[in-house]
Order: sequence, then structure tokens, then C-alpha cells
Amino acid sequence: MAKKATEKSAFRPLEAGEVVVLRDRRERRYRVKLKPGGEYHTHMGPLSHDDLIGHEEGGFVLTTKGNKFLVLRPTLTEAVQELPRHSQVIYSKDLGAILMHGDIFPGARVLEIGLGSGATSAAILRAIGQEGSLVTYEVREEVIEGAKRNIAELVTDPSNHTVQLRDAYEEGISEQGLDRIVMDVPEPWRLVEQAADALRPGGILLSYLPTVLQIHQLGIALQEERRFQLPETVELLERPWHVTKQSIRPEHRMIAHTGFITTARRCEPAPAWGKPVVETVEVVEAEADPLT
Ligand SMILES: C[S@@+](CC[C@H](N)C(=O)[O-])C[C@H]1O[C@@H](n2cnc3c(N)ncnc32)[C@H](O)[C@@H]1O
Repeated sequence: MAKKATEKSAFRPLEAGEVVVLRDRRERRYRVKLKPGGEYHTHMGPLSHDDLIGHEEGGFVLTTKGNKFLVLRPTLTEAVQELPRHSQVIYSKDLGAILMHGDIFPGARVLEIGLGSGATSAAILRAIGQEGSLVTYEVREEVIEGAKRNIAELVTDPSNHTVQLRDAYEEGISEQGLDRIVMDVPEPWRLVEQAADALRPGGILLSYLPTVLQIHQLGIALQEERRFQLPETVELLERPWHVTKQSIRPEHRMIAHTGFITTARRCEPAPAWGKPVVETVEVVEAEADPLT
């Protein structure tokens, strides 16, 4: 059986069933699923799939007209951008930040709320590895099959992923003792109290939101729920650069705004801090230095 395009293994030749990305001399991208006997028709002549199968990634292949194409497996970043989706696109810069700010680690027990296209699930599954587990709640039944197909394209063995058809606002959170909760839903403040019940001490709640009014409302809910400490909100800007021998400058276009990432730590309920008790320190006057 063909292995998945994103599976670890550096120098495996390309196999039937894999998705590869072809690049022409102008770096234009063409996505091709390899089939024995198949043909891919380009503006520079047809390419036989059989010439690609067994070829090494990173090599050049020729069309029947003698034109060259570079062939590579897609990275997770590329694969996520190309997923068929039914919801707001999530950018790889934010996926990376979700994994780091959410401190998603190998073996973690994670609850995700809001499946969408499954891109975030795939990134979490790759970070938690086979020893971890991921449960995702999704309220729209019609997105689940498509998301599962997307995840299967990106993760070698998603058997540690369970998707539940569930309205988290109405039905709440059943899981307990969670290490991390990742929410990508429009009203996460409605789930803050339940998230505090479901996370273990030291656990992390992470929410991804597109607007300032939403992060304000979430911030208020986190402040009122005394079991969450150290709330932080970040926004990441990624500015691509154009680098050639003749010119080095930022690209003319960039994605100006995607979303905000808010995190908070599940702790004991905050105590009334009281007045700080400061130790009295005896101040000894320094002796004059004989050399000065
Ligand atoms: C922006 S999308 C999530 C995108 C996802 N992070 C991804 O990588 O594709 C939000 C998802 O949350 C789901 N959703 C909204 N409210 C929900 C709720 N109360 N319970 C569960 N899922 C909900 C929506 O149906 C939608 O699929």
C-alpha cells in the first residue's frame, strides 16, 4: 500500500498514490496524485506518472517535449493551504504558534473544539505523536467526513483521533484531566468555566479568534474564572521576503491579519494576595576601597 506523502523518511523514492508538487522554471506549482500509467498534461507537454514513480524527491523530470519540472513532496504548510475546506482558512504561521504557545507535546491529552477542515487537528496529531490522544468536538455534521479525509492525507496514522458530533456550547465538555484545550469557535468565553473543570492543574487553554471584540470578551471571562492565570494574547505577522542576487526586499504583498492566539494556565483559584511581607535586610555600609 502507498505510504502517505507526509510520512517521515528522508530518501524514499516517490510511490504510486502519493501527492507530489511539480514546479516549472517560474516556480509555478502543479499538484499531481501519482497513478501507474497516468499522464499529467502541462502547457509544456505531457508528463508520464510512471517517470515520476520511483523518482527521487528533489529531482528534475522531463515532459515528452523535453521541458523540465522539479518534483517534491508537499510540506505540511503547502498541504494545509491546498486542503478542500468548509470553514475559515488557518495559516501555517498560526498553526506553528498554536503548537508552541499551547505547548502541545508528545503524549499530550488534547481536546479541540471546532474541527473545520481538520488542519489544526492534523498539526496537533503530528505534535502529540502516537502516545498522545486528541478528541475534537464539531457541531456541523456535514464537515466531519471531509475533515477526516483531509487529516488522513496529512497524518500517517490518525487512530488516536476521535471526532464527536457535538455542540460544545449546549452539551459542554465531558473529558476530564486534559493537558490542553484548543478552541477555534466564535464564542469561547461560553466554555471557560467548563474548560477549567476539564483541564488538569498546570494545563493550558488556547483560543484562536479573529477579532478584537472576541478577545476582549474572552479576556473578561478568563479574569472572572479565578482558576485561570497568566492570560496572554499574541498576534503573529509573517512578512515574506524576495531574495535574489539583484534585489533583497520584502515581498509586495503579505497577509495583514489572520487571528489572535490567547492562552491561559489552569491553576488553583487565585488567592486574595494580601499585603506583601518583605524581609528586613540589614544594610551594611560599604568600606572605602583603599585603591580608589
Ligand atoms: C473556524 S472553524 C475551525 C477551523 C479549524 N481550526 C481548522 O483548522 O480547519 C470553526 C469550526 O467550529 C465549529 N463550531 C462552531 N461552534 C461550535 C460549537 N458550539 N461546538 C462545536 N463546534 C463548533 C464550526 O462548525 C466550524 O467547523
